[in-house]
Amino acid sequence: MVAGGSSGIGLSTVGLLLEQGANVYVISRTTHEQWPAEVHHLALDVTDPALALNGFLPDVVHGLVYSVGSINLKPFHRLTADDFLQDYQLNVLGAVSLIQQCLKPLKDAKGASIVLISSVAAKVGLPFHASIASAKAAVEGLAVSLAAEFVAQKIRVNAVAPSLTDTQLAQSLLNTPEKQEASAKRHPLGRIGQPEDIGNLITFLLSEQSSWITGQVIGIDGGLGHLKN
Ligand SMILES: NC(=O)c1ccc[n+]([C@@H]2O[C@H](COP(=O)([O-])OP(=O)(O)OC[C@H]3O[C@@H](n4cnc5c(N)ncnc54)[C@H](OP(=O)(O)O)[C@@H]3O)[C@@H](O)[C@H]2O)c1
Repeated sequence: MVAGGSSGIGLSTVGLLLEQGANVYVISRTTHEQWPAEVHHLALDVTDPALALNGFLPDVVHGLVYSVGSINLKPFHRLTADDFLQDYQLNVLGAVSLIQQCLKPLKDAKGASIVLISSVAAKVGLPFHASIASAKAAVEGLAVSLAAEFVAQKIRVNAVAPSLTDTQLAQSLLNTPEKQEASAKRHPLGRIGQPEDIGNLITFLLSEQSSWITGQVIGIDGGLGHLKN
């Protein structure tokens, strides 16, 4: 099940999962024309307090990806309490709500994997990131806590922490050749991320190949998180 599978990293993950023969369920507000007919879609806003999956999922769910989030960048003095609350709502509480609703089918898989999406900004101080970095740090706390709590149910929980990735969400940071070049140069590996870079890591973390990995936050950031240029 991929929440946020209609765009960007989630859309790429859906494509990779379909290539591997997975039965894919997507939650998002809108659909995407690239999906083949076999994708099951539920149109839903994850911030809806009455969020309910109402029999959408099968009895057993082997993987859950929460690829919904925000990049709300503002100087600290312009951030309001509402900005912080909205980022927390979308990035953290949306995931909490979906995981709670999927818990039974995840447990019944007797070997499942949850992947949450943090950001490089949770660990590397970047200007204007106070709100989103706070929310993503909470996502990382949620991932490790749930990993500990769910071991008995054989549900692994990990988070991936991307740096700037070329998706709709990041368009305002990448909408000129100058911005693209400057962003690429900030990364030691000399480029920004593509959705498939992150999708490949997510599908690995969903797969049996990662069956001994849980409670990890894995950076996928062209080196930005740990290296100096
Ligand atoms: N792109 C980056 O540079 C970057 C860097 C670090 C971390 N991240 C994180 O990576 C994750 C994926 O981001 P992305 O770049 O792939 O973004 P994206 O291209 O904008 O995709 C976001 C997805 O979330 C869905 N979504 C958004 N709000 C929703 C809501 N209220 N209810 C239900 N679905 C909702 C969107 O679908 P609908 O519009 O159809 O609802 C879409 O499928 C996010 O957690 C983001 O914070 C991204």
